[in-house]
Amino acid sequence: MARILLLAAGGLARETASSIADTGDHEVVGLLDDSPALHGGLVAGVRVLGGIDLAAGRSELLLVCAGNGQIRRVIVHRLRMLGVGPERYAGHVSRSASRGARCSLGPGSIVLPGCVLTCDVTLGAHVVLMPRVVLTHDNHLGDFATLAAGVVLGGGTRIGAAAYLGMNASVRQDLEVGDGAILGMGAVLLQDQPANCTWAGNPAHWLGPAPHNSSDMQRHALAGTAGER
Ligand SMILES: CC(C)(COP(=O)(O)OP(=O)(O)OC[C@H]1O[C@@H](n2cnc3c(N)ncnc32)[C@H](O)[C@@H]1OP(=O)(O)O)[C@@H](O)C(=O)NCCC(=O)NCCS
Repeated sequence: MARILLLAAGGLARETASSIADTGDHEVVGLLDDSPALHGGLVAGVRVLGGIDLAAGRSELLLVCAGNGQIRRVIVHRLRMLGVGPERYAGHVSRSASRGARCSLGPGSIVLPGCVLTCDVTLGAHVVLMPRVVLTHDNHLGDFATLAAGVVLGGGTRIGAAAYLGMNASVRQDLEVGDGAILGMGAVLLQDQPANCTWAGNPAHWLGPAPHNSSDMQRHALAGTAGER
């Protein structure tokens, strides 16, 4: 069984560790997180070995478990600068997820329990699907996209890089959600959503710019990742 380290010791890491234990596809041998307060302690029974940069000097496979795709992107970029290439990243698909014909996952992607990918679905790298997401024919999700629990996409929908769709959002078939966009929980999206803005409601409408693109978020990602989801 391949050994794996989970990066960013928040809620998604605990969920992913639980799903990996149930599936039995990897052995989680430690967590890495930039919060010194966590170092040496246990999170969900797994030891926090040190900061994220330690990954560069080790040999295990890696999974970045920050719940926010923008933060996953910053971590992957930072490790790339330290020589960590795409071949170091594992993927994880829960035992209870259903993955139909011609569905593909990029490196670092995580599919939690109860998700359904019907057929011809493409996930980029470091995509996260939380429990019970339903993806249908010809969906395409860009790198670092995050779909919270219960999201449903109609056929032919395209989700941009690092977009975030909140719990139980629904997207009509053949629509596009732009890069870095946020769609609120419970939204019903009836038209294309532009990049880098927040929409919510039924029908979904503009609420404001997407705050997760702020320089504060980037600073937070570079300084530490504890508490991310
Ligand atoms: C859409 C969202 C990102 C907005 O967050 P925010 O920028 O902090 O917005 P606020 O809470 O300040 O609300 C701003 C306005 O939008 C409304 N609003 C917020 N979320 C909404 C939603 N999902 N649907 C409809 N209206 C919403 C608020 O009622 C408020 O309206 P008002 O100005 O008339 O009072 C957030 O509410 C959301 O849905 N996040 C996803 C949560 C989720 O799925 N988490 C999963 C964790 S695993």
